[in-house]
Amino acid sequence: MNVDKLVREEIKKIAPYVPGKPIDELKRVYNIEKIVKLASNENPLGCSPKVIEVLKENLNEINRYPDGSCYYLKKELSNFLKIPEEEIIVGSGSSEVISLTIEAFVNPGEEVIYPFPSFIIYRILVLKVGGIPVEVLLEDNFSYNLDKFLEKITSKTKIIILCNPNNPTGTIVYKDQLEKFLEKIPDNIIVISDEAYFEYVEDENFGTCFPYYKNKNIVIARSFSKIYGLASLRIGYGIGRKEILDYMERIRPPFNTTGLAQIAAITALKDQDFVKKSIENNKIGKNFLYENFKKLGIEYIPTEANFILCKFKKDATEIIKELEKRGIIVRGMKSFGLSNEYVRITIGTQEENELLINFLTKILK
Ligand SMILES: Cc1ncc(COP(=O)(O)O)c(C=O)c1O
Repeated sequence: MNVDKLVREEIKKIAPYVPGKPIDELKRVYNIEKIVKLASNENPLGCSPKVIEVLKENLNEINRYPDGSCYYLKKELSNFLKIPEEEIIVGSGSSEVISLTIEAFVNPGEEVIYPFPSFIIYRILVLKVGGIPVEVLLEDNFSYNLDKFLEKITSKTKIIILCNPNNPTGTIVYKDQLEKFLEKIPDNIIVISDEAYFEYVEDENFGTCFPYYKNKNIVIARSFSKIYGLASLRIGYGIGRKEILDYMERIRPPFNTTGLAQIAAITALKDQDFVKKSIENNKIGKNFLYENFKKLGIEYIPTEANFILCKFKKDATEIIKELEKRGIIVRGMKSFGLSNEYVRITIGTQEENELLINFLTKILK
């Protein structure tokens, strides 16, 4: 039986995802006790202790289906963001919010513009619906030039995605840039603003799409996986006008988020002290790593997120391997389409960052 003849042509264009080794497998292979994972931009502090408590209290409810409408979480988000509940959609991670937007609005043959290098799922999601991915190269220093996005607009353009801050570069779109850009976006185009890391931004001139979504075709995708530390529970949310979200709701699987994830998200949102602590840890870690990368002669792109894109003087494949042997996992950027000198390193706890620098110092000698 030849399945190749059965599968949709669009799916054939999608390269298979190559997952990393599970942590326990690495421990076994290298015979090490502790693994420090600085590869997936997770929160190194874990999550709010209050979330752990509430999850334990609710474990006996897992025989029940979750509340498909996310009634209480939407209420909490609505209070927190000071916007109506009908302008919020909840997804199985912010990636599902992006996926639902693309599925609801992109017809086969329509174009979706997004940055390069950027989050790799955009391409997959666009191909999945038979859309045409249109990549816009970021500048030499990986900053955004939004004029280049505008230049790519054609009669087939349906969506423009801004990843802000951008993964893997940590660069941002600035407020003045964004305002000029949005003024020029016609009504037949939807802008997705992927703001999975926005809580980490320090630059006061950062341009979130939040102030503009009520008057434009904008979907903002935000995550509980990063600063709130709930990556494994798979929960995120989208913000947009009701007219847009209503169509996304039609195709949202009714039980796309679990009951435990919803309870965890409500509790996490209420613990803003944990968020502050996470931001503080990130700031300290960022400066510590900058200083030490400079000493080690490693180039880096200044970041507004919880990871740093580094450029080593040579192919970093061996360096990544050597770190892995010592229990530190970082992310080579080949899968993002960058050359082998590029490595993305998530900012860890102070102890993890020091360990990374100690090992890097030894390896680079
Ligand atoms: C830019 C960006 N957007 C979205 C996501 C997905 O996050 P979630 O876990 O909320 O689906 C990630 C995860 O790495 C990301 O880097």
